[in-house]
Amino acid sequence: MTDTKLTSLLKQMTLDEKVNQLIQLAAFFYEGTTSEGKITGPMEEMGITNEIIHNSGSVLGASGAKEVIAIQDNHLKNNRLGIPLLIMADIVHGYKTIFPVPLAIGCSWDSDLAEKSAEIAALESAVSGIHVTFAPMVDLVRDPRWGRVMETTSEDPFLNSVFARAFVRGFQGTDLKSDKNRVAACVKHFAAYGAPEGGRDYNTVNMSERQLRESYLPAYKAALDEGCEMVMTAFNTVDGIPASGNKELMRDLLREEWGFDGVTISDWGAVKEMVPHGVAANEGEAAFKAIEAGVDIEMMTASYVKNLKSYVHNGTVNEELIDESVLRILKLKDKLGLFENPYRGADKKLEEEIVLSKAHRKTAYELATKSCVLVKNDGVLPLQKSQKVALIGPFAHNGDILGPWSWGGSKEDAVRMDEGFGKKVNSSALFVAQGSDIETGTEEQLEEALAAAKKAEVIVLALGERSDMSGEAGSRADIRLPEIQLNLIAKMKKLNKPMIAVLFNGRPLDLHGVIDEADAVMEAWYPGTEGGKAVADLLYGDVNPSGRLTMSFPYSVGQVPVYYNHFSTGRPKGAPDAQVRYVSQYLDIPNKPLLPFGFGLSYTTFMYSEEKLSSQTMRTDEPITVSVKVTNTGMVTGEEVVQLYVRDLVGEVVRPIKELKAFQKIKLKPGEEKIVTFTLCEEQLRYYHKDLDFTSDAGFFTVFVGPNSEEVAELTFKLI
Ligand code: BGC
Repeated sequence: MTDTKLTSLLKQMTLDEKVNQLIQLAAFFYEGTTSEGKITGPMEEMGITNEIIHNSGSVLGASGAKEVIAIQDNHLKNNRLGIPLLIMADIVHGYKTIFPVPLAIGCSWDSDLAEKSAEIAALESAVSGIHVTFAPMVDLVRDPRWGRVMETTSEDPFLNSVFARAFVRGFQGTDLKSDKNRVAACVKHFAAYGAPEGGRDYNTVNMSERQLRESYLPAYKAALDEGCEMVMTAFNTVDGIPASGNKELMRDLLREEWGFDGVTISDWGAVKEMVPHGVAANEGEAAFKAIEAGVDIEMMTASYVKNLKSYVHNGTVNEELIDESVLRILKLKDKLGLFENPYRGADKKLEEEIVLSKAHRKTAYELATKSCVLVKNDGVLPLQKSQKVALIGPFAHNGDILGPWSWGGSKEDAVRMDEGFGKKVNSSALFVAQGSDIETGTEEQLEEALAAAKKAEVIVLALGERSDMSGEAGSRADIRLPEIQLNLIAKMKKLNKPMIAVLFNGRPLDLHGVIDEADAVMEAWYPGTEGGKAVADLLYGDVNPSGRLTMSFPYSVGQVPVYYNHFSTGRPKGAPDAQVRYVSQYLDIPNKPLLPFGFGLSYTTFMYSEEKLSSQTMRTDEPITVSVKVTNTGMVTGEEVVQLYVRDLVGEVVRPIKELKAFQKIKLKPGEEKIVTFTLCEEQLRYYHKDLDFTSDAGFFTVFVGPNSEEVAELTFKLI
């Protein structure tokens, strides 16, 4: 439709019809769903009438071609102007074919494959009737206590931005109207939801504008620069005001400064939550603040539909604000082609053919192999197929490896660890025992596991967190493995056999009691549908591990937040003239994390040499190059992530001790070498100065090149 047609449609709408476009309710409110769609229970309590439902603009969480078509049919029968519904859902890392959780995808450092995973997720959801996904989630996180760390890709703004772009490209493609196999993306949670105090979900976020702009905003901006159609507000406060009512954030920054003219949506109930936040006396005031801030759709509460009409009538709210929001929603519907075809990609037959197809599982497998990170190996890996192996632990025979944001996926479709191992060794050489549950266990379970382990030459422990121990509302203060599993490790250790721990979890854990006991440790995260196969292939060396951590693993929870790109202090530990006591340090633990950002092992080794700069000086209009020779010095082919960091030695405000600026993932055969070259330009050296000017400083910079954020060679250049 042309803009004129959309505007004329808007003109035909009554105020009621317009306001109703601004509410989003879950699928169970709608007729046509398999669940009850009657005016009972929640609807009545919320003040939702049938009229509101028939005129609402979008639905949350409907899926399946049959169900979505029925909902749309019912809606269109009852909607006076025939305005179709938008169907939105959380397709975060796969619809039915589940890919590794985003934090694991980050560890692949492979944005092409990440893009492909989003493309597949889009295709599966599009044929199942979904139009918009509430992804990518790009909140920067530095605190592993927060349960939602698994939803993001890293602790680094640059890397998060790379993945934000890749996900948006994968979900949306290049033309949503003609390409029915894609879905619109909604970047979330704007802004800084990943920094709640104490790592407790929904908690206060408190940070300077400089910090916000420098570290937290870039990934949202990157998603929008890539054309992301929607933005979701965060639950938290930003500078004292909840995001959903924060005019400076949602209108001044997002719309005015960044020029975003797409649709914004509150997070679930976040408009009404301004009341308990204590910035609105009642729902009405919350609605007022949200619409003034430019929040178009209110998700799952009814403050807009209950209040905006009277606010327009009594002059509190200008009807133009509502018109703007409705027009944005109509434009999105048009962009998705819904006025021509309200069912869009929904296709029962295709759904049966495509969803969870072999090809999709293959990509899920590939991404899972690239996402697992080998963090310790004292020569016990790869396993030999001739070895008798005991596979022990609560994840040995457990399909709970999809992760907390995989509602469309089914645990039954997941390849479990014992299935993966079953393909490697004869059943007579494989002994599987649970050992314990995730948080509890019995003497019998332990005895059975010990008996199994005694029969084997090598013990593989499959350990971790139940998926609901991370994710939304999944914050933990103690981020060790549950006691019962630490006990299982200790008991197994006494058998004096080679022992490998494989971890299934949604956050960087405190690995004490694991890494010091096991001879090898693999962080498998929640690897998704093909998890068991991918992990077995990695452990047996059929695939060489290539994942690298994108979040630091703390030495202990007392260090948190601990991240590689921190500032220096006036009393840095380890400086040549540093005192013994009066330096910035803990008396009882190291300053450094247990495992640094960028770290991961391979079954081969790589040597870095001949680090060079093309010039010792950089001019504003003349980039320099940084090169390094990387040689595979081991016996097998492997992939390496070559990383480049920079430090501005003297800034107007303090600068991080290192910042990732570029990386390249390369594959080398044994003995093969490659010169890896990066281009570095002035633009990459800019930062927010005292007055928030985004510029660079003339002066000296250190460049670091290496396999992770700690093991680096240093070079210096001057920007003139
Ligand atoms: C989450 C969002 C999600 C929304 C809709 C909220 O509770 O914070 O990430 O998109 O629910 O399911």
